[in-house]
Amino acid sequence: MTDSSRLLDPEAKPDDRLDAALRPQRLVDVIGQEQVKENLAILIAAARQRKEALDHVLFYGPPGLGKTTLAHVVANEMGVSIKVTSGPAIERAGDLAAILTNLRAGDVLFIDEIHRLGKAVEEVLYPAMEDYALDIVIGKGPSARSIRLKLPRFTVVGATTRLALMTAPLRARFGAVYRLDYYDLAAMQAIVRRAAAKLNVQADDGGVEEIARRSRGTPRVALRLLRRVRDYAQVRADGKITRQVARQALDLLQVDPLGLDDVDRRVLKTIITKYNGGPVGLATIAASISEEPDTIMDVVEPYLLQLGFLDRTPQGRVATKLAYEHLGIEYNEESQPRLL
Ligand SMILES: Nc1ncnc2c1ncn2[C@@H]1O[C@H](COP(=O)(O)OP(=O)(O)OP(=O)(O)O)[C@@H](O)[C@H]1O
Ligand SMILES: [Mg+2]
Repeated sequence: MTDSSRLLDPEAKPDDRLDAALRPQRLVDVIGQEQVKENLAILIAAARQRKEALDHVLFYGPPGLGKTTLAHVVANEMGVSIKVTSGPAIERAGDLAAILTNLRAGDVLFIDEIHRLGKAVEEVLYPAMEDYALDIVIGKGPSARSIRLKLPRFTVVGATTRLALMTAPLRARFGAVYRLDYYDLAAMQAIVRRAAAKLNVQADDGGVEEIARRSRGTPRVALRLLRRVRDYAQVRADGKITRQVARQALDLLQVDPLGLDDVDRRVLKTIITKYNGGPVGLATIAASISEEPDTIMDVVEPYLLQLGFLDRTPQGRVATKLAYEHLGIEYNEESQPRLL
């Protein structure tokens, strides 16, 4: 199975464009993430009362949890426009300068994958975020001089799946930093129920729960599974999503009851059968199953860690007893590597 075909890949895919219609617009429509929502509500209310631009906001966490959604919600709540770009899209310092000079007071500049900004671009962003100033060099050689342009007060909303890859000075320029975590079952059920209603899909409580359980706590995955189960229900059943229909559809798609797919299981099996449970390095695991280390690190590992199936040790990754049990492989206490 190639990476792009992964049903459980929380990265956006072309098929997901329909999600835009499902995207919550206001803070009250956002399901779950209670702590982030409450903090954001205070941040926004305070800025509005002072009639100021919102402080720069950074969201980080695994893909598909709603960083882009929240960036739009922030702009909606502030009643300002949002300009959307991403780290890799801004190639030169001049590209960023052009974006910055087109912003109006209060506007949100959303920079997705902000950890992938180039060094030269970052250098332009620092004074822009801190002093609302743009330093540009005019002329060349000995006659070159730098002038400082004033920018309107604007807000950067940054998103990253890799906080650790962000430079310290860039991180320091965000007044508010929020971590998004996997959604709990209740929130996932609410998200599936709301999406089913909006898509005019009939799903009973059992069907909703089954999809929610297998969506690895990730809204984007839930919406994708809902669409696939809807197809199945339409073709193989009477169109209604019951628990049984959802189960059959998801089993057929090889999404197991905990939301693990083939790649997740291969990662665990490799650690267990080839490396005796670990510890084994990420690069070695990736090579053994022909997957990108980045995919494993961003997508596979965080969820396995969350389930308690994997431990990260300085020596490498270790499969836990829970992982053995889930895969139905006997766990032998004696043969396990001893960790210091
Ligand atoms: N809290 C939520 N409540 C309801 N629906 C949500 C929520 N968060 C996300 N969604 C839905 O999930 C979809 C994916 O969310 P979004 O695009 O914001 O993910 P993301 O975290 O930006 O992902 P990435 O990290 O890959 O950029 C959205 O289209 C939206 O419909
Ligand atoms: Mg996004």
